[in-house]
Amino acid sequence: MDEANESAVALTVNGRAVSVTAGADTPLLAVLRQDLHLKGSRIGCSEGYCGACTVLLDGNPVQSCAMPLEAAAGRAVTTIEGVASTAAGEAVRQAFIAEQAAQCGYCTNGIIMTVTGLMSRQPATSRADIIAVLDERNLCRCGSHARVLRALDRAMATLAGGRA
Ligand code: FES
Ligand code: FES
Repeated sequence: MDEANESAVALTVNGRAVSVTAGADTPLLAVLRQDLHLKGSRIGCSEGYCGACTVLLDGNPVQSCAMPLEAAAGRAVTTIEGVASTAAGEAVRQAFIAEQAAQCGYCTNGIIMTVTGLMSRQPATSRADIIAVLDERNLCRCGSHARVLRALDRAMATLAGGRA
């Protein structure tokens, strides 16, 4: 990277204000993993297809490998390391643990982030809605889908109980 093209970009990551000096087109995923040492966002296809790198940007799931750092300037990023800070994130995280909803686990953090984003924005979201979003955004090559669906059901029940 040509240092002359680097600049400081300020953003919030997991509730903490940070400033990162990097090229503006450096992928957010690289900044999270290399500069901020948050390794939970996985490197998969690096082309925006597999969803292993999913984080929340202002609450919405994004593929961080395909997002330049400058696009996150002034915005709030949540990674798997910070997902438990919301009721939805903690419910999803606990449900995945309870259902052991992974095989190799490489896709799991990305799936948790996508589901958390959806459940946070739409607390009464349906199982069908979540499946549709996962079909669009997250790949699992191990076929752990049945366990993931059990975890989704558990998380939705937990959140519905909290609203009752
Ligand atoms: S690593 Fe980002 S979508 Fe595959
Ligand atoms: S559990 Fe291995 S890719 Fe999903």
